[in-house]
Amino acid sequence: MFDFQYFTPTKVVFGKNTESRVAELIREFGGTKILIHYGGGSVVRSGLLKRVTDSLDAAGLAYVTLGGAVPNPHLGLVYEGIELCKKEGVDFLLGVGGGSAIDSAKAIGYGVANEGDVWDFYDYKRKATGCLPIGVILTIAATGSEMSDSSVITKEEGLVKRGYSSDYCRPKFAIMNPELTMTLPDYQTACGCTDIMMHTMERYFTNGGNMDITDALAEGLLRTVKDNALILCKDPKNYDARAEVMWAGSLAHNGLTGCGNDGGDWMTHKLEHELGGLYDVAHGAGLAAIWGSWARYVYKDCLPRFKKFAINVMGVEDSGSDEEIALRGIEAMEDFYRSINMPTNLRELGVEATDEDLVLMAQKCAIGVGGEMGSAKVLNEEAMLAIYRASM
Ligand code: NZQ
Ligand code: ZN
Repeated sequence: MFDFQYFTPTKVVFGKNTESRVAELIREFGGTKILIHYGGGSVVRSGLLKRVTDSLDAAGLAYVTLGGAVPNPHLGLVYEGIELCKKEGVDFLLGVGGGSAIDSAKAIGYGVANEGDVWDFYDYKRKATGCLPIGVILTIAATGSEMSDSSVITKEEGLVKRGYSSDYCRPKFAIMNPELTMTLPDYQTACGCTDIMMHTMERYFTNGGNMDITDALAEGLLRTVKDNALILCKDPKNYDARAEVMWAGSLAHNGLTGCGNDGGDWMTHKLEHELGGLYDVAHGAGLAAIWGSWARYVYKDCLPRFKKFAINVMGVEDSGSDEEIALRGIEAMEDFYRSINMPTNLRELGVEATDEDLVLMAQKCAIGVGGEMGSAKVLNEEAMLAIYRASM
């Protein structure tokens, strides 16, 4: 068991109609001039944005709006947001939408609170010393950005997708109404469930220390999301299933399921980020497409954890050799992906990559992680390329 620090300052307001409390929460955290930042328009179509602006109008809170955060959000819009905030004297950011709008808001927050080019943080050149306060109204259960310390941005030039993490950007509050996720396309719901599970799996497949309580929480979370993802495939309007998945999404990425371990593996995420940068695929689908190849490449170096996962999460029978059990667990996970219409390789993801593309992604991925990374197994550029090739 490793020492750990667990910091989750986000006030969670969960349940039906909770978005009606947005003005009160912004006031509680000192906001007086707000930038409402959102994505490609789902919040306009659903009427959520209008309800939010009506609430702020009624409370006498001044605001400006900036939409257009795309999935795999772009640096260009972040720059635009920073300029707008400076011009308008914005002192509070409200991200309304999914991980992309929230991450873009976090990047804007860094850009306003720090001098110089905000990309420096994502390029690991220097560290932020602050961030404008952020509140969130979540519309898709997926990234956990509503409580996480991360923000992931894509620089259009060179299609470089990079994450930056610091406690400064953790949201002050997160409004989570499961009903708001009912307008999601089924594909996005499944992508979200995949991402949620992966955030806990990245922390689970390690060779570092572990705590029984953390493992029990992680395994319970994984089983819960798996079961409720299957329910949502058949019954997308099921409120309770939406609520289970939504809360799991926050717990999967606020640090809870990593307490006592070594920080996690995270290589499936790093490999996916290159796919997202180059091919603009949905993050969750990219993770599903790469995970099986990663798992088969590393499982022998992390056998006890793969065996435990197979039995406790995937319900595999405890018979045969450890290796057989681990492999049956990987197969069961891939079967689960298929059952929620997620891809299990790059072709199913719709990516027709040439070998040069795979080489380029492995190069970029290795640069992005500073050479090599991983806990289940440390991967270098050659290993990354082998996994990309196996995932075709
Ligand atoms: O843009 P709009 O029009 O809102 O549509 C979005 C988008 O097309 C749509 N959507 C969201 N809520 C909806 C809805 N459509 C109908 N009804 C609703 N209620 O769904 C699509 C996906 O939205 P997006 O925000 O891109 O999804 P997600 O939350 O999965 O975010 C993905 C981004 O977050 C990053 C990913 O890499 C990716 O860039 N991540 C962020 C993390 C973090 N900050 O902690 C961790 C993750 O591992 C991840 O890397
Ligand atoms: Zn993720």
